[in-house]
Amino acid sequence: MPVATAVAHPNIALCKYWGKRDRTLNLPSVGSLSLTLAPFCTTTTVEWGAESDELVLNGRQGTPAESRKVFALLDLIDSWRPKVRVLSENDFPTAAGLASSSSGFAALALAATKAAGQPRSLEELSVLARRGSGSAARSLFGGWAEWKVGEREDGLDSHAFALAPENHWDVRMIVAIFDDGPKAVSSRDGMLHTQETSPFYPAWVASTPKDLTDARVAIRERDLTRLGIVMERSALRMHASMMAADPPVFYWKSGSVWAQETVRALRARGIPCAWTMDAGPNVKVLVETPYADEVARRLANVADRVHVLEPGGPARLLE
Ligand code: PMV
Repeated sequence: MPVATAVAHPNIALCKYWGKRDRTLNLPSVGSLSLTLAPFCTTTTVEWGAESDELVLNGRQGTPAESRKVFALLDLIDSWRPKVRVLSENDFPTAAGLASSSSGFAALALAATKAAGQPRSLEELSVLARRGSGSAARSLFGGWAEWKVGEREDGLDSHAFALAPENHWDVRMIVAIFDDGPKAVSSRDGMLHTQETSPFYPAWVASTPKDLTDARVAIRERDLTRLGIVMERSALRMHASMMAADPPVFYWKSGSVWAQETVRALRARGIPCAWTMDAGPNVKVLVETPYADEVARRLANVADRVHVLEPGGPARLLE
């Protein structure tokens, strides 16, 4: 029975994806840009040919909703596929404040295509992983990755690509945790509701090409001050578009604001650092490595706990 195992790291967007131009193909309304983060990872084993379709996630049976998403992705690889067993483990706490769907669907796409005997390029895998979770399109790549919005109706040009490898720039991403409960509103529902009801949504979409242009230059020049301006602008405009939805989509907690204030205070003392936030209250702070300990200590004063992460490599197969 063909079996393959793949490992992928999660990523955090610095220029955000929020909104879809095609729900079935999971095509984004905007391009996005991210940093893939180690050491956290998802390891997924796919057995192509089993007694029944089965998903085991972190040692428990997958829920019907989780299983539907996983097996729908496998149907895209081969609509005549045999029954398949999928075992997936995150080595990071589920409440680590990181989207495990980004590493999860990247590892699944890589392991499943290998087990099915259909090896694909990283770009083709990115197109496939995108169908499971948009952010997963970026986790196939290590380091700094950009996911192109694309123009084609079939979505084949909406994949990520590598901007710079993980050793391009010595930075850390510090994740400050304020809440480890499940999300009140999933990113999928939150973004659809925002695009349907927020009067600010078109302005958010129109503002994103400049963010991507500025972020590419800042990353190339390893300019954290410049990248920080883009990161915070992108996160604030994305959240502003949600807050203006009807009813609002609101992920912030008081701790989120304390962490943002901590970052501003550190910057005022000459430490270049910048924050971003996703579909939850946790705050992620990008900093150059020599300042990481100091920034982590300050954030630990306001957060329940912090994780210090570093740029990670691309998704890979385990032999
Ligand atoms: O890919 P999804 O459905 O998990 O959505 C990700 C949405 C954000 O994390 C808020 C932004 C992003 O680009 O990752």
